Amino acid sequence: MPTFVVDSRAEAEHVLAGEIADLLRARPEAVLGLATGNSPIGVYRDLCALHAAGEVSFARATTFNLDEYLGLQDGDPRTFRRWMQTHLFDHVQPRSTNLPECHAPLASADAVAVRYEQALQAAGGIDLQVLGIGLNGHIGFNEPGSTRTSRTRVVELDQRTRKHAVRVFGDLAQVPTQAITMGVASILDARRLRVLAFGAEKAEIVRRTLFDPISAECPATFLRGHHDVKLYLDAAAAELIEDSALPS
Ligand code: F6R
Repeated sequence: MPTFVVDSRAEAEHVLAGEIADLLRARPEAVLGLATGNSPIGVYRDLCALHAAGEVSFARATTFNLDEYLGLQDGDPRTFRRWMQTHLFDHVQPRSTNLPECHAPLASADAVAVRYEQALQAAGGIDLQVLGIGLNGHIGFNEPGSTRTSRTRVVELDQRTRKHAVRVFGDLAQVPTQAITMGVASILDARRLRVLAFGAEKAEIVRRTLFDPISAECPATFLRGHHDVKLYLDAAAAELIEDSALPS
């Protein structure tokens, strides 16, 4: 997997925001795949700045997010929908934004997931997907055990993922146990994948992503099979990788 170690995360954020802006200039109706969380936040900040400067328009763009918690009410500040509104959508106003429904009654959540996958296909698939990597190797909420052929579906959240979310929910009991996520195959269908990992906290999972056997034990390893993937790391996230071993 082509891997770029940058001097600062701001450099990677700038490069990726620039690539997304170039894509939207070349193809205004592009379909963007988006992630929430710490990894992409600076890319969205840079895109908002480019938009404010009149250098990019999202007026014809469509977005699909990777995932959403299940069991929250619409408008709950802890939904990924609200996070996206705050950090990107309210500023750049894409033509169409899609996230799985957080309040899907559990009985119909499977149908919601199937409809999301169908909507993704109907939109023509994703031109460029932004990704972070979870500490347990998840991409989207494809937790360890998720197969290469998995599609959008309801998943049980891993304990490690739920513990990580305590910083948002305040208390483990409040963290949802389920989510809807795009599948590994749905993600790998994207025409370009751009993956971000920053900080020493990510060093071990980055090493595993690049060098562990490709398997469901670490779903991020599946990214290595993609024809147009780039991984951006800062020095701290790359600290367990010998320079000479860096894939190019
Ligand atoms: C978020 C998502 C997750 C995150 C991953 C890394 O929508 O699908 O896979 O990308 O958990 O999170 P951060 O970037 O917060 O370290």
